[in-house]
Parts: sequence; C-alpha cells; structure tokens
Amino acid sequence: MEKIQSAIAKARAERVGGSQPGTTALRTDAVVASSPAGDVATAWQALPALTLSSRQMERNRIVAFRGGSAATGVDMLRTRVLQQIRANNWHRLAITSPSAACGKSTLALNLAFSLARQPDLRTLLLELDLRRPSLGSMLGVSRDISFSGVLDGTRQFESNAMRYGDNLAISTNPGPSRNPAELLNSLHVPDVLADIEARYDPTLTIFDMSPMLVSDDTMAFAGQVDCVLLVAAAEATTIKEIDQCERELAAQTNVMGVVLNKCRYMGPEYGYDYDY
Ligand SMILES: Nc1ncnc2c1ncn2[C@@H]1O[C@H](COP(=O)(O)OP(=O)(O)OP(=O)(O)O)[C@@H](O)[C@H]1O
Ligand SMILES: [Mg+2]
Repeated sequence: MEKIQSAIAKARAERVGGSQPGTTALRTDAVVASSPAGDVATAWQALPALTLSSRQMERNRIVAFRGGSAATGVDMLRTRVLQQIRANNWHRLAITSPSAACGKSTLALNLAFSLARQPDLRTLLLELDLRRPSLGSMLGVSRDISFSGVLDGTRQFESNAMRYGDNLAISTNPGPSRNPAELLNSLHVPDVLADIEARYDPTLTIFDMSPMLVSDDTMAFAGQVDCVLLVAAAEATTIKEIDQCERELAAQTNVMGVVLNKCRYMGPEYGYDYDY
C-alpha cells in the first residue's frame, strides 16, 4: 500500500509543467438559481420511490446501503469527500478509472448510499457511463428510466429518476446509448444539469462515468464537474495509467483523489483506500 502511495506521489512530483490537482478553474456554469426550499421538497417528494432488496445490494457489494461496520471504509471516504466539497464549494463529482471494472459503479453507489444516511444532505447519482450502463441492473431497477433521454431532451428528469428515502435520487439507463460521445459533448448538457440542480438543490451530484482509456466520453464531460475521484484496482491498474489519467483530468478539473479498490491484503473493514 505505501509502495503504491509513494509511487503515485513520485509520479506527481515528476510531472514537468503539468497542472496539479486542486489548482484548475471551476466550471463556468456554476451560477444556478435555486428554487425556494418548499419547491425543492415538493420536487423531491414527487420523484417515484425506489424500493431495494437487501440481498440484491449485498450481492453487488453495496455495503453502505445498510451502514454498520461493513460500511466504515466508505463512510470514511464520505467524510473526506464532504470535507473537500465544503472547503471548495464543489457540487459535482465524477467517478472514473483508467480501465474497465475497477469498481467505479460499486463505489458510486456506496458513496451515494453513505451520503444518503446523512439526513441533512441531498445527493443525486446520475449514470453517465453510456456505453456499459450497469447501475440499473445492480439496483434491480425494472422501470423504464433513461438518463441519456433526459440529456438529449426527449425525457423529463422527474419521471426518469427514482428517489430512495427523502434525500437520494438516482437516474440510470436501460442500455447503451447509440451516440455517447456526441451526447456528452452536446451544448445542451450544461443547461440540462443546471436545470436539475436548480429544482432539486443537491449538496452533491455524483456522476458514474466510463473508463478513461477506452473512450473519450469522460474527457468530453470532465469540464462539467468540479472534481473527480479516480478509482484504481489493486494488482490491475498501473502507476503509469493513474499518472496519465490524473494528468489529463487535472487539465480540465480538480482531481480530488485516487481510490485504491479491490485490495486483498487489508482488514475486511477497509474495502477502499484513499490517497490525498
Ligand atoms: N472492493 C471490491 N472488492 C472486490 N470486488 C469488487 C470491489 N468493488 C467492485 N468489485 C467487483 O468488480 C466488478 C466490477 O465492478 P464495477 O461494475 O463497480 O466496476 P466499474 O469500474 O464500474 O466497471 P465498468 O468499467 O464496466 O463500468 C463487479 O463484479 C464488482 O462486484
Ligand atoms: Mg461501471
């Protein structure tokens, strides 16, 4: 573990002229006029309620759903994320990884459920892996929900998102989109997101992204978010891949940290390790 952390630190230190995480400008469309509190509460209550099965959550490693000691690692990550977003007035967080199957969607769901256990926060989890969407099947959602339809203006968010409890809303996709890069590059996307934020006033919006090294979808969207968590899979992701992705992301947004996932040699309470 220390070896990986010091290798990441060394790679960062060796970058010549590369921008450092935390120093890049925030997105420019961040000025959003929020609805009055009563309207926000009404908008949340109008979202269709999501009922979840504990077995399905367990099967998909969504340990933060129930809380307790199994969720300690995710709850620690939640605290670090909250500290950073509050200190920097950030509201949009993307979760990505260099290659596929590092655990992005699992982490996005865990972080969202961990945040949902804090009643004073409102969280949106939006699926932007438009090539291999998986949040719907991980949650066992059978509704016809399409966040890509919301993005392209053919569907309304209020009927394409589901509310879990009073303060977590999730929008998923039924299958791959035909034109993910074009959709993510569309000039309408900033307005769609600003409109959703104005109506639901989330503390944090989490975007579950696609892996960076297989398409340019995540880079096409990176300028829309305030910060990014990069998920690395132990024994699979290389330092070189982490360095390349950090460098590319830091040119567009703030890299909040690298989450080292799938570590086999840690206590069961630590599913994730967080570097920063
Ligand atoms: N901490 C972990 N320990 C062991 N297995 C894990 C862990 N996190 C996720 N997984 C497993 O790894 C697989 C991939 O997880 P997940 O779908 O979350 O990754 P992903 O990065 O979103 O993948 P994709 O790139 O396809 O979107 C799943 O089978 C998941 O259960
Ligand atoms: Mg995924």
